[in-house]
Amino acid sequence: MTTTQAHVEAGATGLEDLQMGARRIQVDDKKIINCRADLNQLVPFKYEWAWKKYLDACNNHWMPQEINMSADIALWQDPNGLTEDERMIIKRSLGFFSTADSLVANNLVLAVYRHLTNPECRQYLLRQAFEEAIHTHAYQYCIESLGLDEAEVFNMYREVPSIHDKAAWALPYTQSLADQEFHTGTPETDQRFLRDMIAFYVVFEGIFFYVGFVQLLSFGRRNKMVGVSEQIQYIMRDEAMHMNFGIDVINQIKVENPHLWTAEFQASALEMIREATELEIKYAHDTMPRGVLGLNASMFNEYMKFIANRRCAQIGLKPLYPAAENPFPWMSEVLDLKKEKNFFETRVTEYQTGGALSWD
Ligand SMILES: [Fe+2]
Ligand SMILES: [Fe+2]
Repeated sequence: MTTTQAHVEAGATGLEDLQMGARRIQVDDKKIINCRADLNQLVPFKYEWAWKKYLDACNNHWMPQEINMSADIALWQDPNGLTEDERMIIKRSLGFFSTADSLVANNLVLAVYRHLTNPECRQYLLRQAFEEAIHTHAYQYCIESLGLDEAEVFNMYREVPSIHDKAAWALPYTQSLADQEFHTGTPETDQRFLRDMIAFYVVFEGIFFYVGFVQLLSFGRRNKMVGVSEQIQYIMRDEAMHMNFGIDVINQIKVENPHLWTAEFQASALEMIREATELEIKYAHDTMPRGVLGLNASMFNEYMKFIANRRCAQIGLKPLYPAAENPFPWMSEVLDLKKEKNFFETRVTEYQTGGALSWD
């Protein structure tokens, strides 16, 4: 098969030559992967959930510089403001997240985008890519505000084993898809794409962020590092939507391509989630060798198993662990709220009124 034929098998990119007078796009022409219809026409919508998430994400727009960091700066500079253990959590969290969001963005733009052959999903991916840039900006803003050693923070994924191991776990999934020779269109390559979607949306954004989220939000709950904590609240709201988008895509690929969801594939997906859960528990121990902020590492054993079971259920896998309790019910309250509507109500409303055009 020539490369050109492989492209045709794989579906469109959106960059094909235009055909004057070609038949107009019908909604049933649209497919989430391997679609051969024109990808430059947003409508007619087939996947309303993707368009709705794009609209909700736009309504949630925020920027890191709007958050007041002055209390954090004073606390950080006060030699008695925080314990060494608390300082380590802040630094390691910023170390993990600062490079993680760039990795997610690179996966989106260089791997996922090319193979997801639907305009309304791509519209959401473009918004998500901008949000990942905002998140990286937020971490840089925290690092600069606190006067941290930026080289130390940005190099942690090459210098701190538990941070390295999470990024290194995810990289092979995006590397194979970013290969210019790689095309979907066969059961094997379609499964590779589905695997990357699980690796990044279910594991990276749905498991690897959660110890850091709990830790940083725990500062804010104790009225410490309230600026960093507020940044994380906005980021977590965005990330919950990214993950839910990815889960919708995964489930839609399953609906359109049930032959990909074999027993063997499900076993390999469960194995990925198990490995990731263990890495995240190791990360909790590494960032928190002693109890701090009312948290201890063993609480995260339970929490990550609870989260892993929930992720399995969301993509239709059987639970990995015996029923696990959530030791942080306040996290699930935050996440279970329809935050895009009411969790940050004041700020969202400000944006909606501030950003809306008025014609009267
Ligand atoms: Fe992000
Ligand atoms: Fe994200």
